[in-house]
Amino acid sequence: MTNGSRRKRVILLATGLLTLALVVAGCGPQNDQNSLRPTGEQAKDIDNLFMFVLVIAGIIGVLVMVGTIYAAVRFRARPGNERPKQTHGNTALEVGWTLLPAVILAVVAVPTVSLIFRLNEDPQPGALRVTAVAKQWWWQFDYPAEKGGTKVVTADELHVPVGREIQMTLRACDPSLGTPPTGGCNVIHSFWVPELNGKRDVVPGRDNTLSFTAEEEGTYLGQCAEYCGLSHANMRFRVIVESEREFEDWLASQQDGPAVTLAEAGNAGELFSTKFGCTNCHTTEDSSLSVYGPNLTHLASRTTFASGYYKLTRRNLINWILDAPSMIPMESEECRLPPGPGVTCVGMPSFVKNTPPGQPTMTRAEAEELADYLLQLD
Ligand code: CUA
Repeated sequence: MTNGSRRKRVILLATGLLTLALVVAGCGPQNDQNSLRPTGEQAKDIDNLFMFVLVIAGIIGVLVMVGTIYAAVRFRARPGNERPKQTHGNTALEVGWTLLPAVILAVVAVPTVSLIFRLNEDPQPGALRVTAVAKQWWWQFDYPAEKGGTKVVTADELHVPVGREIQMTLRACDPSLGTPPTGGCNVIHSFWVPELNGKRDVVPGRDNTLSFTAEEEGTYLGQCAEYCGLSHANMRFRVIVESEREFEDWLASQQDGPAVTLAEAGNAGELFSTKFGCTNCHTTEDSSLSVYGPNLTHLASRTTFASGYYKLTRRNLINWILDAPSMIPMESEECRLPPGPGVTCVGMPSFVKNTPPGQPTMTRAEAEELADYLLQLD
């Protein structure tokens, strides 16, 4: 081997090892999306099954590797032994390596199939029912009217009580925006909170269900796990697990009317409803309504916005109101045009770029005024 090609190999090996180290470093246990550190009952069951299969697969893997290396070394071609003894048609071996894998698969299949059925069992009577509506590219959470209260529609942050079973209905069609299966539908998504349960697809035209029970209070990170277009990777959400008391308080506060009505908001209300037409896609007046964009009636009670991608700070919100597509990629260039054939609108438009003729471009002062109004809506 020449010196040059040896150096090339060393560089290649070093680069490969470095890349591997970086990739593995991304898998630290403290990433808040670790299915190997389950805190939900269902996620624990899945993890136990995974470990069981991993051990069996690991033993088989080691045996196969050892056998392969042994055979390669022991029976390698040597002077005088170019053609080792052939063993075609050994009945005992043929039967053995047909039966053994069948037995192994059967052993793996029994707990797997039984867990699949268990994960799909109907929820307990006391379960809390919430509907997750997957939009492009954010999650809406609908709480049904309970105990004389009203329905609650919120976005990005799913509040649930600790220890109680949560029965999610997963929906890709929003009936309030048209009649399914064609109206109000978008594409396939997948609901996934790795530390609480496995993934479940969210499919237009069919409601799926998924239940989970969180055993510890805290915030769990969720992620859309099915490619759904431009901002699929940004389609996050949070599950905020709190005590039953905190949850009830939260739900009651969400059922309240807005802290400030559009009429009380003065000039900001005028900017919101008339000048920039924010009410075409959002509502700030009624937390029970499902509309095209996130319901903002209690926006300030959330810690994040934009599908959990940004912290809810005044600065982030002002930048978002001015030019949302520069913060998260969206197909929203035509969103300020009147809706109609050939007009594509997915997401929130920029109010400083692509202003259609006859419509106003937003100033920073106007965005600040809007943000200050929205941040009062706790
Ligand atoms: Cu929604 Cu990917």
